[in-house]
Amino acid sequence: MRLTLVSNLVGNEILAKNIITEDGKLLLKHGERVNQEHISNLKKYKIFFVYIEDEDLEDIYEDTYLNSLKETALKSMPDIFNNLLTGNTEFINEALVSVYELIDYISGEDTINTNLYEVKNYDNYTYIHCLDTCIMSTFLGARLHYDKENLRNLALAALFHDIGKTKISSSIINKKGLLTKNEFDIIKLHPFYSKEIISKIPSIPACVIDGVAQHHEKFDGTGYPFRISGNEISEYARLISICDVFTAVSSNRNYRNRFDPYEAYELILSSSSTYFDPKLVELFKNTFSVYPLGSCLKLSNGIEGFVVKQNPGFPDRPVLRVIYDINKHKITPYEINLLKNTNITVISVL
Ligand SMILES: [Fe+2]
Repeated sequence: MRLTLVSNLVGNEILAKNIITEDGKLLLKHGERVNQEHISNLKKYKIFFVYIEDEDLEDIYEDTYLNSLKETALKSMPDIFNNLLTGNTEFINEALVSVYELIDYISGEDTINTNLYEVKNYDNYTYIHCLDTCIMSTFLGARLHYDKENLRNLALAALFHDIGKTKISSSIINKKGLLTKNEFDIIKLHPFYSKEIISKIPSIPACVIDGVAQHHEKFDGTGYPFRISGNEISEYARLISICDVFTAVSSNRNYRNRFDPYEAYELILSSSSTYFDPKLVELFKNTFSVYPLGSCLKLSNGIEGFVVKQNPGFPDRPVLRVIYDINKHKITPYEINLLKNTNITVISVL
């Protein structure tokens, strides 16, 4: 699958995603072959980009099952949060079923092949952010061979970590521009609020509550609210804090554009031992790739290619498949291994 400009469509391409108009109408379904009428309709609706199947890249594995589980879980998020906020213990487990399905699936997977870096500038930012943090944390917990109960508890802590933000005025949460000291002091209260909310649910164990309450603590003791350090911070919180920062900086926020994946990754690696537990940063590095399979990269030699394979231990040097020359003419596909071509660097993600 790749993103292409509508102006570059010639017809006969297969759509890889549904096309929804601004007012929410389904214009074209995924799997449909594009014809001239479709192209003029797309232009009429001012749709400039579409995802199309790349028939030369059919063997790229995209985890559509994980994506569909994620979509279902996302739909349950308002229910989960509302049940928590109202202390409705009866329905909380029912609302969590889709999340448990997601966790069970992840625990059986070795690698992450979903595109974690898709633009996440949705209105329901908090839901997406909590769910992404939950998914990433679960992958890491699975790598640590957590048993089922432990994995569920870690996932719940990640899912609930920011629920306390619902107690803070949205004018502060959604403020455009930097926060004043006073506003930041208010934001800093949210781990307490999160703790308060989930403590009212008797079935939630203490390890989940600690994971939530400590997610802004830093490994060197400079975090908040307790300023605890190292292994005094619960392992859940140490894992969640990495995933929390990573998913937050890879999203568009009010006060800045998202980092590109490499910058977000670098931020995590460069904060090892200060913000984050170095052992867990190492785990993060060995679990997630900088550029997921199927992403299109522009290289310093002007060539563009799709990520088709990762080089274990070298998350920023994948293998790319090139299918166009520098003038965008289709060529016999070939592969470039960035690990063997260290003079070539990645300029941007397309
Ligand atoms: Fe937070």
